[in-house]
Amino acid sequence: MSEPVLVSTWHHGRGANEAGWPHLVSRSALDAVEEAVRTAEADPEVRSVGRGGYPDRLGRVTLDAVVMDHDYRCGAVAALEGFLHAVSVAREVMERTDHVLLAGAGAADFARSIGMQPERLLTAETMRLFEEKVRVRETAPANIENHDTIVSLGCDAQGRLAGACSTSGLMNRLHGRVGDSPIVGAGLYVDGEVGAAGATGHGELALRVAASALVIERMRGGLAVAAACESVIEHIRRRLRPGPDRQLALLAIDRDGRCGAAALLPGFSYALTRAGVHEMVEVDA
Ligand code: GLY
Repeated sequence: MSEPVLVSTWHHGRGANEAGWPHLVSRSALDAVEEAVRTAEADPEVRSVGRGGYPDRLGRVTLDAVVMDHDYRCGAVAALEGFLHAVSVAREVMERTDHVLLAGAGAADFARSIGMQPERLLTAETMRLFEEKVRVRETAPANIENHDTIVSLGCDAQGRLAGACSTSGLMNRLHGRVGDSPIVGAGLYVDGEVGAAGATGHGELALRVAASALVIERMRGGLAVAAACESVIEHIRRRLRPGPDRQLALLAIDRDGRCGAAALLPGFSYALTRAGVHEMVEVDA
């Protein structure tokens, strides 16, 4: 029997877990991770997800999101504009279509076609902060200031696993840039026989090594959860030689509900919920 668990990245993961946990108890891991991520998307104080997220260099807020469940069912959207709950659009791609990933105007058309309401996501405060940084040509390191992508991973009482993530992407990105978050295997990967893993931080690093799938494959090969995350971070450090301000963090759970994480740089934390008790875990680098 698995121990139910819900984990979500960064300090905004705490509110996400508080919202998602009741769904884990009464519904499913899939419903729980979607609800957790929706909570971060709706929070205008979170500058890297949904409403209030930083725009690209053209001043446009574009969202990437993905969901994946126990049995390799998955859906994703990339460069979605004008719809707050990118994670729910991604889930509907999974539930209603034979596709995995919809992008750009096609993703927005799909969201509209299923009755979702478009809305403005760029807040005056985010625009003020953005212009301030552009003016001084300051590129904030991913997820130290930005706090970055929300990834939520859950294991429910039935032992079913699911994961979801959502992001407005790196600040100051080129228009059209898509990060790791909506790419199955890079930003998120779930295999119900093994575990669930997700990435947050500088997406190009996760894309180049298919980081989340690599964590799961190393767990399949026998490594414990934290050791699998650490080994992939070490692989990235050795083979990609990221610059000193490049952060990438990996978070994972196994099918028994054990969790672990690793990061290139200090500062990464995640929210952990078991038996309804919420705590924050700081990860050493
Ligand atoms: N990890 C989010 C991004 O790079 O867009």
